[in-house]
Amino acid sequence: MEEKRSTYYITTPIYYPSGNMTIGHTYTTVAADTMARFRKMQGYDTYFLTGTDEHGQKIEKKAAEAGVTPIEYVDQIVAATKDLWKLMDIKYDDFIRTTEERHMKIVQKIFRQFYEQGDIYKATYEGMYCTDCESFWTPTQLAEKEGVKVCPDCGRPCKPMQEESYFFRMSKYQDWLIDYIETHPEFIQPAKRANEMLTNFLRPGLQDLCVSRTSVKWGVPVDFDEKHTVYVWIDALSNYITALGYGTEQDDKFRKYWPADVHLVGKEIVRFHTIYWPIMLHALGLPLPKQVFGHGWLLFGNDKMSKSKGNVVYPQPIVARYGVDPLRYYLMREMPFGADGNYTNESFLTRMNADLANDLGNLVSRTVAMIEKYFDGIVPAWDETAEEPVGNDLRKHCAELPDLVNEQMDKLQFSQALTEIWKVIGECNKYIDLTQPWILCKDPEKKGLLGNVLRTLAECVRFAAVLIGPFMPSTPSRIFAQLGITDENLKTWDSLKNYGALTGGTRVCKGDALFPRIDVMKELEALSGKDTEKEEKKAEKAEQKQDKKTGKAEKKQDEPEYPPEIAIDDFFKCKIQVARVIACEKVEKSSKLLKFTLGLGKDGERTVVSGIQKWYAPETLVGRQVAVITNLKTAKLAGIESQGMILSAMDENGNLRLMSVEEGVEDGAIIG
Ligand code: MSP
Repeated sequence: MEEKRSTYYITTPIYYPSGNMTIGHTYTTVAADTMARFRKMQGYDTYFLTGTDEHGQKIEKKAAEAGVTPIEYVDQIVAATKDLWKLMDIKYDDFIRTTEERHMKIVQKIFRQFYEQGDIYKATYEGMYCTDCESFWTPTQLAEKEGVKVCPDCGRPCKPMQEESYFFRMSKYQDWLIDYIETHPEFIQPAKRANEMLTNFLRPGLQDLCVSRTSVKWGVPVDFDEKHTVYVWIDALSNYITALGYGTEQDDKFRKYWPADVHLVGKEIVRFHTIYWPIMLHALGLPLPKQVFGHGWLLFGNDKMSKSKGNVVYPQPIVARYGVDPLRYYLMREMPFGADGNYTNESFLTRMNADLANDLGNLVSRTVAMIEKYFDGIVPAWDETAEEPVGNDLRKHCAELPDLVNEQMDKLQFSQALTEIWKVIGECNKYIDLTQPWILCKDPEKKGLLGNVLRTLAECVRFAAVLIGPFMPSTPSRIFAQLGITDENLKTWDSLKNYGALTGGTRVCKGDALFPRIDVMKELEALSGKDTEKEEKKAEKAEQKQDKKTGKAEKKQDEPEYPPEIAIDDFFKCKIQVARVIACEKVEKSSKLLKFTLGLGKDGERTVVSGIQKWYAPETLVGRQVAVITNLKTAKLAGIESQGMILSAMDENGNLRLMSVEEGVEDGAIIG
C-alpha cells in the first residue's frame, strides 16, 4: 500500500450567494468533503476550503430587489449555506467569504502588483451595453429582435457604450500556458477538458481580460484608482490563496498547503480555473495547483437545474426523509465523476433499496444474526484446524480492497471506488448463499468451519465499514456497534493493512436495520407530492426571507417559479379565509413588520405578522377585511409566532396592496 503522509489541499468553487444552494452545489461540496475525509483517514495533513463569492452586479441587484444592502442579503444566504453544509455532514477547514477583509486586502495587493509589473493596463472598453442589466455584451452574445440588437438577458435594446477599464494582458502568457498544459497532462482532468481548452481558447489566441468596472460598486475597490472595482475573476479565484494567508505575515498555511492538490469545479468554470488562474499565479511567481478537475452537471429531467425552469432540487427535504448518508452515497455513486447525470427521485430510491437496504444492510444484519444464533453473539476466532477454501478468493479480494479503492480515489473516481467496495459486499452475500451456514450449524463437526465463515464475513464487513466512512460518515459507527467493535484501532485505514486484525471474542449487538427497505412507489408519491413540495417551499422561503422581512412580495417578479400547470387539488391545499383586522401595530424595533390580530368569526382569532409596514399605517387597517392563508405552518418573525399569511399583490414598481373581498361576507368565510 502506498505510504504517503504529506499535505493534501482540496477546494470547491466559492459559490454565488445569490440564492440558496441546490443539490448541484451540494454535489461538488460532498465530493470535496468525501475526498478530504478519505485523505485524512489515510493520514494526510488535509485542508479543505469552501466559501462564497459575494461581489458583483447580480448580488447588488438581488439585494436591491429585496430592499436590503448587499451584505445583509449575502449574510442571510451564507448562514443558510453553512447550515446546509452542516446538515450534509460537510467538515470544511475554512469557509472563505470574498467580503472578508482578509480576502479583500490581498486582492487589492495582488491587483496593484499586476499593475506595477505591467500585466494590467488601463484602456477603454467599447461594446454594446444594456442599461437595465448594466452589462456589456459582445457581438456574439447579443440577441436580435426586429432588427435591433437586444440584451440576451432582458431583451431590451442595447446601445454602444464606452467604459474605462483595466485589462489583464492574458495574451502575453498564452504560449507559456499551452506548453504547460501540454507537458502536464495531469493538470486538467478529465483529459478531454484539456483538449477543449487548447482547441477552443488557447490556440485561437487569448483576448486580454477586462478586470475592473466603474459601474459596479459592490466589489473590491482598486486602491490606486478608487472609481474602479476589481471585476469578478481576479477577486474570486484569489480566494484559494487568500484563505491560506498568502501575502500576509501569517502565511504559514500558505507555505504549508500551496500548491493545492486539486480544485474541484463544475465543467462550466474549468476555463477560468485552467486559463486565467494559472496565468495569474504565474504572474505572481507562484506554482500552479496540481490539478483542476472539471466534473459534470447533475441534471434534472435531462436539463440543467435552474430556478426559472422550476426544476431545482434542494437536499433538505430528501435528508429530512431519508437521512444524510443515503443522499451522499447516491450523489457519489450514481454518475462517474466528470460526466453529467440525471437526478431522479426514482433512481435515488432504487439505489437506497438495492445498494443500501439489500446489499449492505442485509449483509450486516445477516452476519450479526448468525453470530448471535450460532455463537451466542461472540465473534468466533479463526480456527486454524478448520479448512475453509470457499472463502479464499473473498478474503484475498477483501485484503486488496483498500488499494483498489485508493486507486480510484487517486483519480477522483468516487463512483468506481464505491463500486469496488460493493463488489466485495456482493461477494459476501454470495458467500453466505454458497456456504449455507444454516446447514453447517446442524453438524457439530463443522463448528470450526462455520466459525471461519462468520469470521470472514465479520472481517469483510469491518473493511467495508471503514472504507465507506468518507462517503457516509455516520454509517460506520452504526456497523461497528452491531459488530461489537469498540477498539478504535480496528476502525482505521491503517488497520486495513492487516486482513484478519479483527480477532474473535467481541460481542455483537443486533440493532435496527441500517437502511430499512422502502416502498419505492409510496415514497415516489410522497416525494413528488405534498411532503416534498412543502419542504422545497421551505427552502425557497428561507431564500426569500429577506423579501418577507422587507415586505416585498414572496415571488420575484422577474423570476417566475410557478409550475406550468397545477391540479385543482394543489390549489385547495391552501385554506384561504376572510379575516377582519381587529388590531394592528408596528412590531417593536422593526421598520418592516406589522403585527395583526385577525378575527375569523367562529374560527376565533389569530396573530399574523406581515412585512407591509412600508405601505400601510397600522391604524388605517383596523376594521378592514383581508384575505389570509390560515393553514400555513406557523413561523416566528421577530420573535412573534405568526399564524398565517396575509395576501397582497405587488406590481413591478414595488407598489403593494392588500387583497380584500367586497363587503357582505362573514369573517372566516372560505375563499376559493
Ligand atoms: N462563483 C463562481 C465560482 C468561482 S470559483 C473561484 C460560480 N458560482 S456558482 O454558485 O455558480 O457555483 C457553480 C458551481 O456549483 C459549479 O461549478 C459546480 O461546482 C456547482 N454546481 C451548481 N449546480 C450544479 C449542478 N446542477 N450540477 C453540478 N454542479 C453544479 O460559478
